[in-house]
Amino acid sequence: MRIAVGTDHGGFGAKKELLEHLKKQGYEIADLGTQSEESCDYPDIAQEVAGAVAKGEYDLGILVCGTGIGMSLAANKIRGIRAALCTDTYSARMARMHNDSNILCLGARVTGLGLMLDIVDTYLSESFEGGRHARRVQKIES
Ligand code: RB5
Repeated sequence: MRIAVGTDHGGFGAKKELLEHLKKQGYEIADLGTQSEESCDYPDIAQEVAGAVAKGEYDLGILVCGTGIGMSLAANKIRGIRAALCTDTYSARMARMHNDSNILCLGARVTGLGLMLDIVDTYLSESFEGGRHARRVQKIES
């Protein structure tokens, strides 16, 4: 599975451990920025990751900012993207199973690193159930 990861300065501190955690599990990872703690604009990073996922260059994306809110708002402006801000593992599971979410958003100033990695693992281990949910997702897309 190919995963694009992006953070702004608010999520930058969590990125190193997140990338290591993903690599250890054998995922193919691309780090699409930011590359320092210097202040940057989260919509720019969201556009990089969401644009690449929408084009099919990656299977899924993970975006981290301070709250996860800005990243999810920005990513969901890209057609074909269903970004889900998750602060618990149940939501992460449902985001994949029911919403066919293709980008996970996390808030590094809200969610501790341990829980964040559990949320990531849950999100990546689930898949879309289809059925009645496919009709609903199709309605979002149209
Ligand atoms: C940056 O200070 C902060 O606004 C950003 O990381 C994010 O929380 C926005 O939603």
